[in-house]
Amino acid sequence: MQRLAEQIATLQRQAIPTLTRALVSELAAREAEFGRRVAADSRNLREIPARAIEEARLRRAAGLAETLYTTLQQRYQEARVEVASSVPDVRVLDAAAVPQRAVKNRAPQVILFAFFGSLGLAMIGAVLVDRGDPRVRYPYQVSREMGLTILGAVPHLRLTGVPGRHGNERSPEDIAAVVEGLRGICLNLVYAHGATVPLLVTITSPEPGDGKSFLSANIAHTFAQGGHRTLLIDGDIRRGVLHRRLNGRRRPGLTDFLQGETSLDTIVQATPYPAFSLIGCGVRAYNGPELLGSAAMSQLLTTLRSSYDVILIDSPPLAAGVDPLILGMLTQSLALVLRTGYSRREVAASKLEALQRLPLRLLGAILNDVPPRGGYPYYSYYLPGYEAVDEESGRRSGPTGRPLVA
Ligand SMILES: Nc1ncnc2c1ncn2[C@@H]1O[C@H](COP(=O)(O)OP(=O)(O)OP(=O)(O)O)[C@@H](O)[C@H]1O
Ligand SMILES: [Mg+2]
Repeated sequence: MQRLAEQIATLQRQAIPTLTRALVSELAAREAEFGRRVAADSRNLREIPARAIEEARLRRAAGLAETLYTTLQQRYQEARVEVASSVPDVRVLDAAAVPQRAVKNRAPQVILFAFFGSLGLAMIGAVLVDRGDPRVRYPYQVSREMGLTILGAVPHLRLTGVPGRHGNERSPEDIAAVVEGLRGICLNLVYAHGATVPLLVTITSPEPGDGKSFLSANIAHTFAQGGHRTLLIDGDIRRGVLHRRLNGRRRPGLTDFLQGETSLDTIVQATPYPAFSLIGCGVRAYNGPELLGSAAMSQLLTTLRSSYDVILIDSPPLAAGVDPLILGMLTQSLALVLRTGYSRREVAASKLEALQRLPLRLLGAILNDVPPRGGYPYYSYYLPGYEAVDEESGRRSGPTGRPLVA
């Protein structure tokens, strides 16, 4: 019993307190351990909402990427099927061969070919256009095709744009060239007309605007300057303009005389140029052509013959009526004006045919408004630098200071 009591006492004093302390310290250690875990878990628990949101976002993005991937995969497969099933536009018939020789540079040949090819085409085009041109263009069309003697050529008289007493001034070089051309025409007219005095010529042309009045006034002026007693008759009783160009009057004129309304003295008027007289066209009359063909007209010419060295008659165009034919038969000599680039060859040829049946001499053609090239220089009489100049006064042509009637 005692031993049991001692053992109990020992247990109470030593074993139990020791065990109790050990148990207490173990429990304390466990408590501390659990406390740490509880703290860690509660931290984790606090982070759970943010992670859950992030996770949901990532899941959604992954889902979208997966859908996109699937779609792309599907499209890729469709495209492959389409490529495999379609027939290609281009098929390779010959496999490319590796060149064995160095390639030659053909660019110069291509450029030369293009240059000469386009030049050739342009020339063919120009020739075709030229051939198709219905106007008088070259002297050979007058001499060979129409069979006319070329009496001379007058170039274009340009305006300088400088205003003068008579409107715009003319270019001095042109005036010199025109004056020389007119001298040549006068010489050839005299030669073609023959020695009969006076030189009596009707000047006409196929159509209006060919330059009949311009040339007849200036040819008459040139003759007058050469000292010949010259009379210019405006036989264009329909639209005569010579009185205006020579500062004269229209009435009383030719038709007034032919109607017996006035005398010869009243219709012959002086011009601003010496030895140069004018008969204006007179009153416009519906029976003008009959008046021209009347005995009074031939009587008038007979009377005038003895008073002048040169009588020129300007007339209406051949296309306008029989007037030029009547006048041509009265004077028995006719000169035809053809304006380059203007007069139509077909009209001229048809009018020539009619003229050839009449009792008159076609002295030849006067080419008007010719360009400086194209074979015309052979028919003109002008060389720059060779103008006839008055040494004393420096004046180039004409005693009155106005070398032309323009
Ligand atoms: N060589 C030339 N250079 C410059 N102008 C010119 C030339 N020849 C004629 N002209 C001008 O052309 C126009 C027509 O000339 P003109 O009146 O002499 O022709 P036409 O044949 O008499 O005409 P119509 O049949 O109508 O009487 C005029 O204004 C004239 O000045
Ligand atoms: Mg006229």
